[in-house]
Amino acid sequence: MKTIILHHPQAQATSTPVHIGEGMLIELHQFIEKLGNFDGFFILHDAAVKTVAKDIASHLQKAHLISVPSGEASKSLHEVERIASSLLALGATRQSLLLNVGGGMLTDLGGFVASMYMRGIGCVHIPTTLLGMVDASIGGKTGVDLGTVKNLLGAFHHPRAVIADIRLLSTLPDTQFCEGLVEVIKIAAMLDANFLEYIEKNMKKILAKESSVLLSCIEKAVSLKVQIVEEDERDQTKRLFLNFGHTIGHAVEAVSDFTISHGKAVSIGMIAEMQLADLKGVDRMKHLLEEINMPTVIPDTCKPQTLLRAMQSDKKVISRDLRIAVPREFGKGEIITLDEERFLRTYS
Ligand SMILES: NC(=O)c1ccc[n+]([C@@H]2O[C@H](COP(=O)([O-])OP(=O)(O)OC[C@H]3O[C@@H](n4cnc5c(N)ncnc54)[C@H](O)[C@@H]3O)[C@@H](O)[C@H]2O)c1
Repeated sequence: MKTIILHHPQAQATSTPVHIGEGMLIELHQFIEKLGNFDGFFILHDAAVKTVAKDIASHLQKAHLISVPSGEASKSLHEVERIASSLLALGATRQSLLLNVGGGMLTDLGGFVASMYMRGIGCVHIPTTLLGMVDASIGGKTGVDLGTVKNLLGAFHHPRAVIADIRLLSTLPDTQFCEGLVEVIKIAAMLDANFLEYIEKNMKKILAKESSVLLSCIEKAVSLKVQIVEEDERDQTKRLFLNFGHTIGHAVEAVSDFTISHGKAVSIGMIAEMQLADLKGVDRMKHLLEEINMPTVIPDTCKPQTLLRAMQSDKKVISRDLRIAVPREFGKGEIITLDEERFLRTYS
């Protein structure tokens, strides 16, 4: 097992250990003991991983389970209220610990509940998807969607620890696993050319979920994200690099009414953004994404004008121009302005 420490930029004295390994959930109580004394454990879990949650509960005393229906629709204020009411009814106090067991949907939602319940309680993330392990559980961003606007309501609330046990990935559907790989490829393309090469060379082993290679990939992706968060927790500079593929990707997701899932939309977005920036390496990137069966072309159903409008509604939050993050060369990310005219010309 490897442990990577994330030092919280806003509170230097605190940090989050990210434990990455295989089969260490059996020793969960040891990780928890190191975090302090708690008067109760509340396991919030995605309905799809109920067995995992029950198993975790069996290793802890005074553990209660709260199930959340699978799917992005659960990342809502309605669920926040329902979960908080359950916590209250079950007797959760400020000294209780919330354990969030699930993918990015669940850790975003559970982290948000933890940030608000009694003005903030501790939580531990136990991600069960690859995307959750390498991305969503790291960095303290929590939140829920409001209508079709993703992550509109949120808070920064770092978990007390993250426990990424790759054994949990054995039940994850292949498509879901590959969607997580898209984020691994994204971070490698923006920050570390050697890592990108490693992924290319070892793709078959990664897809076969070969333990040593998969662990290396997760460890590398986590340490890159940790570096970024320590440098720029609040999306002012370097953390924006993680948006590669996401400006167009989020628009594709929204315009398709979320029928195109996040990972697939980001895959499409990465290729489109590279093409619009005239970057070398588009073919290499395309090849890599096609190898994991991810789409790389904007579907005809997503009209460019509608996509642009969706991007512009995101844009208000950031700046006047539509900014995108792209790898100028692999391993060297940069933020550039998206040429809106060219976008319309290219995709009309
Ligand atoms: N906070 C952040 O920094 C951050 C970063 C990236 C993404 N996100 C968020 O993460 C979410 C996407 O996360 P995701 O891709 O993990 O999706 P998800 O949490 O919705 O999980 C995807 C699907 O896999 C199922 N599942 C989860 N674990 C499983 C397992 N071990 N076996 C079988 N099925 C399993 C779920 O029930 C669901 O149907 C989005 O809401 C996105 O906004 C947050």
